[in-house]
Amino acid sequence: MVKEDKDYKRYLITSALPYANGPLHIGQIAGAYLTADIYTRYLRLKGKEVIFVCGSDEHGAAITIRAKKDKTTPQEIVGTYHSIIEESFKDFGIEFDIYHRTSSELHHKTASEFFTVLHESGKFEQKTVEQYYDEEHEQFLADRYITGTCPNCDYDAAYGDQCEECGSTLSPRELINPKSTLSGNVPISRETTHWYLPMGDYEEWLKEWILVGHKSDWKANVYGQCKSWIEGGLKSRAMTRDLDWGVPVPLDEAQGKVLYVWLDAPIGYISATKQWAEDNGKNWEDYWKDEDTKLVHFIGKDNIVFHAIIFPILLHAHGEFILPDNVPANEFLNIEGRKVSTSRNWAVWLHEYLEDLPNKQDVLRYVLCSIAPETKDSEFTWKDFQARNNNELVAILGNFINRTLVLTQKYYDGIVPDGDFSSWGDVTGRIQEIPGEIASSVEQFKFREGLAKSMELARLGNQFLAETEPWKLQKTEPEKVQSIMLLALQIAANITIAMRPFLPDTCGKLSKMLNIDIDHWEQAGRLDLVQPGHAMGEISLLFEKLEDEVIDEQIEKLHS
Ligand code: 2FM
Ligand code: ZN
Repeated sequence: MVKEDKDYKRYLITSALPYANGPLHIGQIAGAYLTADIYTRYLRLKGKEVIFVCGSDEHGAAITIRAKKDKTTPQEIVGTYHSIIEESFKDFGIEFDIYHRTSSELHHKTASEFFTVLHESGKFEQKTVEQYYDEEHEQFLADRYITGTCPNCDYDAAYGDQCEECGSTLSPRELINPKSTLSGNVPISRETTHWYLPMGDYEEWLKEWILVGHKSDWKANVYGQCKSWIEGGLKSRAMTRDLDWGVPVPLDEAQGKVLYVWLDAPIGYISATKQWAEDNGKNWEDYWKDEDTKLVHFIGKDNIVFHAIIFPILLHAHGEFILPDNVPANEFLNIEGRKVSTSRNWAVWLHEYLEDLPNKQDVLRYVLCSIAPETKDSEFTWKDFQARNNNELVAILGNFINRTLVLTQKYYDGIVPDGDFSSWGDVTGRIQEIPGEIASSVEQFKFREGLAKSMELARLGNQFLAETEPWKLQKTEPEKVQSIMLLALQIAANITIAMRPFLPDTCGKLSKMLNIDIDHWEQAGRLDLVQPGHAMGEISLLFEKLEDEVIDEQIEKLHS
């Protein structure tokens, strides 16, 4: 039975830990961060007990390969990118309660203890197997250290653990024409010992938990992927690696081995919670060991198997932890008709956007949420970005707010007039209904729909002013104008709350202009948010038109 929101005491929201091997691009933001931030902000406004945790994923081949390429050390790489990533999340308005890192001592200890519990309770199989080995670099080749042709889709640059083209999980032995990414050589085979998670043993349990239990509440893309993996049969997966970068395997007989990054990284959610609890005088176990906590992992589609299958198996096998209630995954965001490619620099980098278009974080939040790849891959283009800014944010939201506030200033010196708007029942009725509709969309992870509903308030306001034309009546029917303006101001005040999870910076500015501070979702839909006699603050423009030159520069930058 699916547990309802009202049955939970608290929420633990996580976003995938990004690899600290490069800066963030907007495809990642649209995948796992913006939606989680909107969801968390909404819960906070509802007065829920919620924490939102994330951090840098600083282990694994993604880091060591990057270090090798840049002729530097893994420490150097994670040091540089952890700071850049943390900073750009902050500037973009992603409000984590903690942004932690997996290189921390606390994380190493937590991951190490987790492994030990599983090992001591006999949850791993120790196996000596033949693995690919690069003789020139004297290294075993797993995961991203080996590439080849995907046996499922023929993509010729699939990794040893996953094909990024078709999304299937792989093992190095399945690759056709395997090659070492270190030397480019064809690898040889060598014996090595590892600790495996016998995933097949959990098939029946997963069928019951996901295929029966989460049929109706998990997104179709997530459910569908899980179904095909489970029905395809789950193979044992090594939880250790022959590498010198990572959390050392806490066993004497495992010298020179580290934990598999996909065991280590999700435990990062636990260590981040521990650190947050320590910093805030809370008990981390309330968040991880109490069935009344709703755990939600926001991720991109390439992470589904790890969060919906492997990590839950690990949590279940450990025995002391709750399981995720939901794993909302987004598909991919393409840029100008092509897949994002960080190596070919086909990406819009978040920190560069924030630098090139300062104070426009909400414009990007608006656009990325409007086109979020919720059910299928979607497309970002700079022209569409410009159109949404100019035709929606400026022409609808900005225009409504500006007209309302400028007229209030002009007619009443910025003091909210008294009036009676009861004759516009269709308008007041919609104001009262919209928040419930936004809430329902957000709670079902339909953020595009939620944002569109919140924009309906601005559309409604614009339409109301266009129909009533207060500027034509001020001389002849000033009383009616007072009522019109009072209702327009209630719409504006409603926008500060209904749009806040989506556009926090804008709603903060608007609240200042209206000189109000509405901080509870339950107030949304009310028609008395600004009272007659209330003095407004100073007015400024919320959005500005983006000219072709600015957009053309960005297009050029992408192609350069
Ligand atoms: O795909 C990635 O970028 C991984 N670093 C995500 C890790 S999510 C979690 F498990 F920590
Ligand atoms: Zn493939």
